[in-house]
Amino acid sequence: MNRSAQVSELIDKFGRRVDYIRLSVTDRCDFRCVYCMTEDMTFLPRNEILSLEELYQIAQAFTELGVKKIRLTGGEPLVRSDVMSLIEKLGALPGLTELLLTTNGAQLDKFAVPLKRAGVNRINISIDSLDAERFKRISRVGKLDKVLAGIDAAIAAGFDRIRLNSVILRGYNEDEVIALTDYALAHNVDIAFIEEMPLGEASEHNREETTCSNAWVKQIIASKYQLVDSAAKTAGPSRYSQIAGHKSRIGFISPVTHNFCEDCNRVRVTVEGRLLLCLGNEHSVDLRSILRDPGKTHADLKQAIINSMDIKPERHYFYDKDHVQPVRLMNMTGG
Ligand code: GTP
Ligand code: 5AD
Ligand code: SF4
Repeated sequence: MNRSAQVSELIDKFGRRVDYIRLSVTDRCDFRCVYCMTEDMTFLPRNEILSLEELYQIAQAFTELGVKKIRLTGGEPLVRSDVMSLIEKLGALPGLTELLLTTNGAQLDKFAVPLKRAGVNRINISIDSLDAERFKRISRVGKLDKVLAGIDAAIAAGFDRIRLNSVILRGYNEDEVIALTDYALAHNVDIAFIEEMPLGEASEHNREETTCSNAWVKQIIASKYQLVDSAAKTAGPSRYSQIAGHKSRIGFISPVTHNFCEDCNRVRVTVEGRLLLCLGNEHSVDLRSILRDPGKTHADLKQAIINSMDIKPERHYFYDKDHVQPVRLMNMTGG
């Protein structure tokens, strides 16, 4: 059978077909971004995180069920030791048409070429400021120079597409919308503006005060450039616009002001092996206990994944006072 032609068998109660997984390979990170983590984080002990082999087994089970796209996330995926050995194996997985990575870019100068060689198609790189001091304030420890060098290395390595991710926060970087857009245009890469989501407690700000709506961000860009809505979609939550004469796409990920859950095609696996059915809810299935139970087989793992579709929630309820908000921070979730 030609597995690349296989249609995903994973369909939830609302008729949504899941053909995309976000696989978190570590909860650790060399940054401490204010919207993602608290300053003094405790990370998971080694025995609680999946081994590279276990991560591979999960990826394999999902592709056998028709998943075509895997995005590696974290934490920061590139801080996991020997992560390239996993990525190389994933790059050769039958049935997978897209292998993607979301990174903070700090180590891309070293990893861009090996990632491209291993078969990674597209990379998303987070960058929230082009000012070194600001960059440090937002990431708490990150060095802007390293990320800029990482972006250059990724461009030189020749990925199918590169996208910058910018979370715009009032009081931190809301005056950099144009500068970030100009930077993306000048480098011929895409950029997505992301509304901050209320995942876990942010320790230094009140999210209801910092969250900027993408309608506002779009208006700022429209004061300089004529934006034309683009039909381009990546089966992700971003809605894209374009600017005449430029290749870059300008994306808007607006989970707070615009609910896109009806098109949801993805699930997440945390590095503890928890299959999370939605970013904004706690519904999950423990895959690690199946992997580590000598009495369970690969077929049991696949069956648990198929069964999980029944508990995929219809939508998230960010800022809905009638619903409990997730206490998971983003580094535990994989974005
Ligand atoms: P593509 O697959 O290229 O479209 O990328 P992506 O936008 O899905 O991935 P990326 O890792 O760059 O994530 C960008 C932002 O979108 C992050 O803040 C994610 O948390 C957010 N995001 C991704 N998927 C979902 C989702 O299903 N629901 C919500 N609410 N946010 C999501
Ligand atoms: N809200 C929105 N985006 C977030 N990210 C991390 N935490 C949050 C949050 N609370 C973004 C990062 C990265 C992507 C994986 O998720 O900036 O680009
Ligand atoms: Fe690290 Fe990304 Fe979280 Fe920043 S947003 S602390 S770079 S995982």
